[in-house]
Amino acid sequence: MATLTWHGHATCSVETDDGTKLVIDPFFGDNPACDVSVDDVEADFILVTHGHGDHIGDLIPLARRTGAKVISSHELVSWLATHDIDDTHGMSIGGSFSFPFGRLKLTPALHGTSNEGPGGKDFPTMPAGLLVELNGGQRLHHAGDTALLMEMQHLRGKVDVALLPIGDNYTMGPEDAVTAVEYIQPEVVVPIHYDTWPPIAQDAEAFKAAVGDRARVEVLAPGGTLEF
Ligand code: NI
Ligand code: MN
Repeated sequence: MATLTWHGHATCSVETDDGTKLVIDPFFGDNPACDVSVDDVEADFILVTHGHGDHIGDLIPLARRTGAKVISSHELVSWLATHDIDDTHGMSIGGSFSFPFGRLKLTPALHGTSNEGPGGKDFPTMPAGLLVELNGGQRLHHAGDTALLMEMQHLRGKVDVALLPIGDNYTMGPEDAVTAVEYIQPEVVVPIHYDTWPPIAQDAEAFKAAVGDRARVEVLAPGGTLEF
């Protein structure tokens, strides 16, 4: 079994069957919904969807302390090199690569491109989602920050657990996220990117009711886990 832990907002960690630790979108210190300090987080690999501050806020310190390999867009890892973080792997939308933990594909996301990290303005990112097939066979999709996209239909049959933003305002809201569930048809949905700040306050239980029998919705509290 793998274990997914949601740390509030879009920040998650995954421990795989063999104990490999993945962190997705490290945003701990300034994340009002977060359950842990970045100083207590371990990582072997850090996966980053895009360069907004609420996805990379603690990326540089976490990468430095843990020595984890950072996987993201080519543009974002080029920016990390300007901070002397060189154990990285750059990719782009539609591309897959096999890593020691499994195979990762970057999926389309429709969202803003700015890199809000220090010195990042010359390194705009191509926002992406993450489709991971772990070595244990579990298939996880972290949609990143995105609008509802027709392209999500290509994920049908490829996802066991889908982490979908429902916050609205900056990403798709609950209504479009229900359509995303119809497109993707995952077994389990974990809503993310909501309730961090007032503009993205949402009723996750109402979202769960709206999804109905299309999928099992797991509403996690920050620090909550899901075995899969
Ligand atoms: Ni964003
Ligand atoms: Mn965001």
